[in-house]
Amino acid sequence: MTKKSEIKKGDPETTGHSWDGIQEFNNPLPRWWVWVFYLTIIWGIGYTIAYPAWPLINSATAGVLGWSTRANVAEDIAAVEEANAPMNAKLEAAELASIPSDPELSGYATSAGAAVFKTWCAQCHGSGAAGAKGYPNLLDDAWLWGGSLEEIHFTVAHGIRNEDSDEARYSEMPAFGRDELLTDEEIGQVVNFVMSLSGEPQDASQVEAGSVVYADNCAACHMEDGSGDTSQGAPNLADAIWLYGGDYDTLVETVHNSRFGVMPPWNDRLTEAEIRAVSAYVHQLGGGE
Ligand code: HEC
Ligand code: HEC
Repeated sequence: MTKKSEIKKGDPETTGHSWDGIQEFNNPLPRWWVWVFYLTIIWGIGYTIAYPAWPLINSATAGVLGWSTRANVAEDIAAVEEANAPMNAKLEAAELASIPSDPELSGYATSAGAAVFKTWCAQCHGSGAAGAKGYPNLLDDAWLWGGSLEEIHFTVAHGIRNEDSDEARYSEMPAFGRDELLTDEEIGQVVNFVMSLSGEPQDASQVEAGSVVYADNCAACHMEDGSGDTSQGAPNLADAIWLYGGDYDTLVETVHNSRFGVMPPWNDRLTEAEIRAVSAYVHQLGGGE
């Protein structure tokens, strides 16, 4: 910027450029500006030497300080793991049944278990564990395979009807229609009987005959009163809670074709502490026995 007094002296040096009679002064850049400019260049050079900076084909220059966001995350994870190690060891050593009564351990297990659940279980059981058709709701106290912490732990560790664990829970309901064990008429009758068990509206004229079909074909697994059998994963048919659906058409399909719900085992993918944590989490969701 030129001071007024200088202009008055006349003849300030110009660049010789002129637009519509407006001339461009040839003033030097302010000192402070020039120094800041040089400093930023020096700082920039220093930065590119110290930190990852110049892009290469597959990576970037590493920088002499060896700093990287990846290493930072790995360090953070290692620190968390180290901090959790004593609790994980305690969790693995504890008697399963005693976990819920130890406030410190169960508090740790349920919060660690919630994170495991969100990562590994939510895609099938829902992020809130409320399930979906064919994927059981883990919030209620209706259990296919049992709701004690030991039983949940076993289910999670070995899975259900999978081919990956020799100890997977296994049972198979016969496909009564497809394999011609029952006629369509008998299936209609037994379905009406099953609907009567939970008080759903049903065709009363079929229920009598249905009860006979039920006693002969279904009671061995689902029990005389429809209360189910957790040792075979046979659902309770009298509690109005349905894994696949309780309307007439869905029930006919279930009895005609059977169902074969599969869950993978987790003992080959998660640590014992993680399995215990997620089991404790599921156990305390509301329906744990
Ligand atoms: C690929 C889908 C899938 C994933 C992932 C999955 N499950 Fe399951 N789970 C199922 C199915 C299907 C069943 C029901 C099987 C049956 O019909 O008996 C089931 C059943 C269960 C049961 C038994 C419920 C009862 O009523 O007895 C528990 C407990 C359970 N899952 C917990 C978990 C946990 C904990 C995880 C995560 C570590 C998980 N599941 C991940 C599909 C899955
Ligand atoms: C060998 C044991 C066995 C027999 C016999 C059997 N079931 Fe099942 N049933 C099961 C099992 C196990 C399941 C769960 C399948 C799954 O989760 O994939 C099941 C599921 C069902 C369901 C689905 C329940 C729901 O919540 O959606 C219905 C309905 C049902 N059975 C009705 C019958 C009827 C009716 C008969 C007789 C005609 C019968 N079952 C005979 C073992 C049996």
